[in-house]
Amino acid sequence: MLPTKPKIKQKQSVLIIGAKGMLGAALCDIFSSYNVLDWDKEDCDITDKISTQKKISASKPDIIINAAAFTDVDGAEKDKDSAFRVNGEAVGNLADAAANIGAVFVHYSTDYVFSGVNPIGYAENDAPGPALSRRSDSREGGPLNIYGASKLLGEENLRACALARGTALKWYLIRTSWLFGPHGKNFVKTIYGLAGKNDELRIVNNQHGKPTYTKDLAQATKEIINSTLTSGIYHVTNETMSGGITWFDFAKEIINSAHFATKIIPVSSAEFPRPARRPEFSILINSKLPPRRMWQEALREYIRLLLSGKDK
Ligand SMILES: NC(=O)c1ccc[n+]([C@@H]2O[C@H](COP(=O)([O-])OP(=O)(O)OC[C@H]3O[C@@H](n4cnc5c(N)ncnc54)[C@H](OP(=O)(O)O)[C@@H]3O)[C@@H](O)[C@H]2O)c1
Repeated sequence: MLPTKPKIKQKQSVLIIGAKGMLGAALCDIFSSYNVLDWDKEDCDITDKISTQKKISASKPDIIINAAAFTDVDGAEKDKDSAFRVNGEAVGNLADAAANIGAVFVHYSTDYVFSGVNPIGYAENDAPGPALSRRSDSREGGPLNIYGASKLLGEENLRACALARGTALKWYLIRTSWLFGPHGKNFVKTIYGLAGKNDELRIVNNQHGKPTYTKDLAQATKEIINSTLTSGIYHVTNETMSGGITWFDFAKEIINSAHFATKIIPVSSAEFPRPARRPEFSILINSKLPPRRMWQEALREYIRLLLSGKDK
C-alpha cells in the first residue's frame, strides 16, 4: 500500500491524452469516477504546441495523463521526424502546459530507452545513455532504435521542464514494458490469433523483458497520483519470478492459458530481421513501489476476455 493523500471532496478532473490507445482506454476505465476529458489525435494533436497549450489552459484539468505516443517501433525507423515530434518534443510542451495551470503531469516511457546489455536489468535512477545523439547502433549505452531514442528525448524534455519550473510542476514519469490489454494490437492477441491457425510457431527467445497488463498499469497510475510520492521516475510492470521472461516464455503461457495445442519453437531474433534493433535485456527493476501481481495471473484475466470475445 502506498501512503495516500487525504481525500478531496470535489470530483477531480483528469485529462487523458491518447484516450483511444491501448493504455488510454484502460485509464478511461480506471478513472471513470473522475471528470474525464478523453482526447485523442482528432481532438488535439499534441505536436501542435500552440493549440494544445490553448486547449489545456481553457480546460484546466487537475491532472494530465499523457498516454499518446508514436508506438510503431519499426515504423519509427522510417518516420524519425514524427517519432521525435510526438514522443520527444511534445512531452516538454505538455509538461509546460501542466505547470502553467498547476496540474499534476503523468507521462509514460519505455524499457527501450536502455541498451539492454545488462542482464540484471535497470532501476529507476540508472542512466539510459545519450538521447540527443540519436544513435541507433550503440552497444555501450543509450537506446538501440529510433523509438527508444525519441522516448528518451521525451524523458529529457520532461526533466528539463521540471528543473526549470521547480515546485510549479508535480510530475510522474512511469516507465513500463511489453503492454497487453484490450483496444489495440499486442503480442497476446497476435499469438492468440496465430495459434488458432498454425500447428507450429517460431518465437524469439533471446530478448528479455516484463509483460504489463494495461489495467494494472492504469490502476498503479491512479494509486501513484493519489499517494504522497514525490515527483520522479517510477517503474511499473507485472512481476516475474526472477529477472525477465522471453517472448518465447510469454507465447508458451498464452498458448497454455488459451488451451491451444500449438507447438512453439524457441529461435534467435537473427531469424526474424526487423527494421528496429531490440534490446536483449530490457528488464525494468522496480525499487520504489509495491509490486504488482504476477504476469501469469494478469495474462489469464486478459485471456478470459479474449475467449469471451470481449476484445476482438
Ligand atoms: N505498447 C507497449 O508495449 C509499450 C511498451 C512500453 C511503453 N509504452 C508506452 O506506453 C504509452 C501507451 O502506449 P500504447 O501502446 O497504449 O499506445 P497506443 O495504443 O499506440 O496509443 C497511442 C495513442 O496516441 C495517439 N496519438 C499518436 N500521435 C498523437 C498525437 N500527435 N496527438 C495526439 N494523440 C496521438 C494514437 O492515435 P493514432 O493511433 O491515431 O496514431 C493512439 O490513440 C506510450 O507512452 C508508450 O510509449 C508502450
